[in-house]
Amino acid sequence: MDFTEKGATEAVVDSFRDTPDPRLKELAASLVRHLHAFVREVEPTMAEWEQAIGFLTRTGQMCDDNRQEFILLSDVLGVSMLVETINSRKTAGAAPVTASTVLGPFHLADSPARELGARIDLAGGSRPCVVTGQVTSTTGAALAGASVDVWQCDERGFYDVQQPGKQPPGNGRGLFVTDGEGRFWFRTVVPSHYPIPTDGPVGELLAATRRHAYRPAHIHFIVSAPGHHPVTTHFFVGGSPYLDSDAVFAVKQSLVREFSEIDDAVRAESFGVTAPFRHANADIVLQPMAEHR
Ligand code: BEZ
Ligand code: FE
Repeated sequence: MDFTEKGATEAVVDSFRDTPDPRLKELAASLVRHLHAFVREVEPTMAEWEQAIGFLTRTGQMCDDNRQEFILLSDVLGVSMLVETINSRKTAGAAPVTASTVLGPFHLADSPARELGARIDLAGGSRPCVVTGQVTSTTGAALAGASVDVWQCDERGFYDVQQPGKQPPGNGRGLFVTDGEGRFWFRTVVPSHYPIPTDGPVGELLAATRRHAYRPAHIHFIVSAPGHHPVTTHFFVGGSPYLDSDAVFAVKQSLVREFSEIDDAVRAESFGVTAPFRHANADIVLQPMAEHR
């Protein structure tokens, strides 16, 4: 049969008819249907098609062990958050759990283990900040021995891995274990808002579409406890610029926290800081494994 504009989509979908894995068959067919629908709608010129291939090629070429430009592309197109949100859907009436959001590219697998109360701002900063929280289950039970992995940028908006030699390794990072009441606390600085990396094809896309590259200030968390679904999330700094226009669409209102100024010398001393200091609450609620979401 000749290739025709009319018959193209079904011809390609039909070519997958012998795919043994039913999920792969569904994904391949749906991808082709949507790609063809896009091409039929926008009718790209050959030059535009070549430009698109060039863009994707450069996106791949930008990737290495430390840089994942395809994930960044997925992030700025809202795909990462859509996948994340679909996969953390809850059934109506389910007890509220801490909302999830994107992982981002700056998480390290070997986060430095720290004692409760330790400082994660190894370079020092001008605005001491204490973060406290309790990890609980939706049943209300406190989760002792939960793992709380945190990472954040400094007051200027840079992660340690972006400034090797300038920031000490592990700056802004810590792996904590909750105490007998599920509590954790650590000392840090208030992170800044910052731009996502713009020196690659994603940066070109943002510039060409007149979008800014900024993320509102936040502290990342991965929290896990035995028998519970782990959560990957961040808490955003209330009042930060870009809360309404995050370049990667990751803000959920339930994750915005006040980083309040506390001018209380006794409380300051109990945390090993001087007043006034900033304080943020980072309570986390996890879903037991057995419960449906
Ligand atoms: C981050 O918050 O670290 C991040 C998330 C998505 C893209 C770039 C950075
Ligand atoms: Fe971040």
